[in-house]
Amino acid sequence: MSGVSPAVNETSDPAESTLVRAARRQPVTHTPVWFMRQAGRSLPEYRALRKGIPMLEACRRPAIVTEVTLQPVRRHGVDAAILFSDIVVPLAAVGVDLDIVPGTGPVIAKPVRTREDLDRIPELTPEHVPDISQSVRLLVGELGGTPLIGFAGAPFTLASYLVEGGPSRNHERTKALMYGDPGLWHDLCDRLAQISGAFLRVQAEAGASVVQLFDSWVGALPRADYETFVLPHSTRALAAVADLAVPRIHFGVGTGELLASMGSAGAEVVGVDFRVSLTDALRRLDGRYAVQGNLDPAVLFAPWAVVEAQVRRIVDEGRVAPGHVFNLGHGVLPDTDPAVLTRVVDLVHEISQR
Ligand code: CP3
Repeated sequence: MSGVSPAVNETSDPAESTLVRAARRQPVTHTPVWFMRQAGRSLPEYRALRKGIPMLEACRRPAIVTEVTLQPVRRHGVDAAILFSDIVVPLAAVGVDLDIVPGTGPVIAKPVRTREDLDRIPELTPEHVPDISQSVRLLVGELGGTPLIGFAGAPFTLASYLVEGGPSRNHERTKALMYGDPGLWHDLCDRLAQISGAFLRVQAEAGASVVQLFDSWVGALPRADYETFVLPHSTRALAAVADLAVPRIHFGVGTGELLASMGSAGAEVVGVDFRVSLTDALRRLDGRYAVQGNLDPAVLFAPWAVVEAQVRRIVDEGRVAPGHVFNLGHGVLPDTDPAVLTRVVDLVHEISQR
């Protein structure tokens, strides 16, 4: 397998890459760009490789993880790779019985709703995930100057899967537990913060240059409840890598009302979904953080002139940010034409050249 040519990364040191520099709010030669869910079903080479291999098994096999992670870097020339894995991988690693069902998402065999259920979930140690360290080390060897992003799910989003037993529109059982038994809720999130934090740390210690904490579903909460029931736990997960020289990105969907609070969780970069303009987000964040985002992934299905105008607007809005990482406002949708993604990367690089 061939490595990745450092065509867009002027440096061979990922710690000096445009992504890491933008996250640290240092000047960059161009706006770095990568896409959440850049590895996955939008790529024919991914679908070919995954044929017949269940998702969770694929995530635990370093040869597959490495190849799938590199695919979008080779094809699109993005400024970062993101480890091919899933937010439920560390839960499965500590023994939670779950599956990732195609077209549905994570499904938990026995949902977690009582103290006894929580007591069955142990803390995560590096010995639970030796394959993850190995995948990261293999990737760092292949990627040269292109940084690798490690990631984990944040406590609220993981708790939602565990309590509901699978994906949920309204998070009703999660909220019933959170409001009805705050003691158990906080203990559950404390355990999940340990698992997320330790999983981020394993990746950073093996060589990931940046980490991202995904709190995909936390936009379901009002800000006051976010601060009471979620923020302390996300803060703890992010703090697990605070002593390593690895910038942290914190992202959630529908989090316009939560942005200022999410900023205080400790990450250097706040991810912004497509419902809030970067200009408004920067105002809500008081200009204190780098921002990541935020093209609506559905806009990639519109005519190119529309895509181009929106990319130009977002790059322009990002110019006044202390740091800007171009991304989508949520993950790549499976039916996206990959040629459009490549074109977006080229356009961002061209118009943001300093
Ligand atoms: O390229 C990347 O971004 C890295 C890979 C990645 C995956 N999952 C691979 C995956 C990342 C970062 C995740 C995180 C993840 N997983 C999140 C947080 C990000 C987000 O989108 O909000 C969440 C909520 C999950 C849970 C999950 N796993 C869902 C909702 C799904 C989709 C289910 C479906 O089939 O529609 C999964 C499965 C999954 N994770 C796939 C991939 C490529 C699809 C599985 C397949 O290809 O069969």
